[in-house]
Amino acid sequence: MTTLAWSPFLQSIAWAQLRAVYDRPPSMFETAGPEASRLASLAWLLIAVGTAAFLVVMALLGAGLWRRRGMPNDDAPPPEVNDRRWVLVGGGLIPAVVLAVVFFITLGAHRASASRLPTNGATAPLLIEVIGHQWWWEVHYPSLGIVSADEIHIPTGRPVHVALRSGDVIHSFWIPNIAGKTDVIPGVHNEATIQADSAGRWRGECAEYCGVQHAHMALSVVAHNAGDFQQWVQREQAAAPSPTDSGSVTGERVFLTAGCAFCHTIRGTQAGGMTAPDLTHLASRLTLAGGMLPNTRGNLGGWIENPQHLKPGTRMPAVPLDGSSLQALLAYLESLR
Ligand code: CUA
Repeated sequence: MTTLAWSPFLQSIAWAQLRAVYDRPPSMFETAGPEASRLASLAWLLIAVGTAAFLVVMALLGAGLWRRRGMPNDDAPPPEVNDRRWVLVGGGLIPAVVLAVVFFITLGAHRASASRLPTNGATAPLLIEVIGHQWWWEVHYPSLGIVSADEIHIPTGRPVHVALRSGDVIHSFWIPNIAGKTDVIPGVHNEATIQADSAGRWRGECAEYCGVQHAHMALSVVAHNAGDFQQWVQREQAAAPSPTDSGSVTGERVFLTAGCAFCHTIRGTQAGGMTAPDLTHLASRLTLAGGMLPNTRGNLGGWIENPQHLKPGTRMPAVPLDGSSLQALLAYLESLR
């Protein structure tokens, strides 16, 4: 589809840091998969029909004004006021036909998006489960034994069924380049289908206001070619590597004793907290803090030191650490590839 210029909004300071992480700006018109293509086609159709209607009405208005030129005064009756055909056809029949056609085309697009895919065979969809939390996304691959956060990895050319649940309030799952929005509602089982045509990295957002940090509840979709996806699966399935150098050994001890392990899991260690993102392969992720920050050592250090400063209201408490403990912890976390 058309390549749109970076909008001024996306050139905000936060995005300036983040956009290097992604291949394209998040836009429903820069489609990367069949779901998004269908929606973009529908959007262009609606834009075209709306534009055509606007131009026709403006042309008729212009013609009417033109005909009134040279009338002696404004109080004189306009010519041919008794012609009702204009009202019936132009004001009733034509809009009714146009709206009916658009309505059924829209219904068809909805139907295609909601249709279930075959669950076996070569094109069987991959099933994943995504749970919305204030303010991050928990990601499970039940058939692969993988748990992650804020990042969905998918193979190209294969549909992926995303079962959507909420851990607290209403969120909405939206990856503009890949698929439309699906609400994530407590107690309701919703599903989205996503599919990417080629390898790449895209940004998604929570699209339903869900509290003060709604704007910082993003997620990334990374599409891999089949071989790369298998490699990713194998790496994610593995437990965290044991620290080897002395700094990381100290860092692991800091993680296990400073309180981090109450909330976070690192598979392969005693850390088994279930209320915060799984950190087993934290260092391999693109972003931190619900997609808010690129995953760099500096950002990670700032986040651990004072999360409430960066993201007021986040459930992550500040962890008071002296400088050398923090450096050791960072060395350890950076080893979790
Ligand atoms: Cu979750 Cu907005």
